[in-house]
Amino acid sequence: MKTEELQKLLEGRTKWAGQHIRAFEKLDSTNIRAGQLGREGAPHGTLVTAERQTAGRGRRGRMWESPADGSIYMSILLRPRIAPEKAPMLTIVMAYAAACALRRCTGLDVQIKWPNDIIVNGKKLVGILTEMSTEPEGIRYVVIGVGINVNMKHFPEEIGEKATSLWLETGQAQEREPIVAEIMEQFERCFETFLQKENLEYLREDYNAMLVNCGKEVCILGAQETYRAQALGIDGLGQLRVRRPDGTEEAVYAGEVSVRGVYGYV
Ligand code: BTN
Repeated sequence: MKTEELQKLLEGRTKWAGQHIRAFEKLDSTNIRAGQLGREGAPHGTLVTAERQTAGRGRRGRMWESPADGSIYMSILLRPRIAPEKAPMLTIVMAYAAACALRRCTGLDVQIKWPNDIIVNGKKLVGILTEMSTEPEGIRYVVIGVGINVNMKHFPEEIGEKATSLWLETGQAQEREPIVAEIMEQFERCFETFLQKENLEYLREDYNAMLVNCGKEVCILGAQETYRAQALGIDGLGQLRVRRPDGTEEAVYAGEVSVRGVYGYV
């Protein structure tokens, strides 16, 4: 990442998001480093980037392959004054902000797979991982990590069917700094509205308009059961509303279930 260029792009554009940047060649994980900075007192909005990660973390304990191939590996440190149970909604805020930013920067028709994968043409382009540290008084800090496949031309065979990059979708190399700056701007705006409202009602319709499975049949994979249902979109808390074949409607929570397409990932 060209830190000076990114700083310039962010000058006067955000108040706090990305105003302190810590850029590294190699890290275990930008989420881990952002957490350390959080414990050391780094300010709200500190952005950590790396060219490669040796222990990139994915959701559900998975690894996030992070070679030095011109991708974006970044984490933002946040100190929101909200109840800890509201923090998972921040993941949705980031997914929405990053999707809007990628649309603006690339013109691609990006979509969201609930809760927080960003998809193009049915393949995953972005993964987001939120981690939180609490203390008795409430949230100590939240770290939101974002991995974007930018300039990779090949994927390992195991994930090639499910993953894509901006290079593969647009046919050309992409500069990373304008994308990161746009995400910071969009995220700051959406985050501030979220803090005022403490729910997602304000972006619900726009988020649902980008939801890849909206109105379609999906597989809900829960701890107790797996079932098919029609995805109806998120509610104001970021839960996915679904309708079972018998017509009953319910909300499913991202911490408890994952969603697949009936025929595969989307
Ligand atoms: C997922 O499983 O979809 C979430 C992947 C999140 C990857 C990003 S890369 C930058 C940040 N640092 C990490 O270790 N993980 C996140």
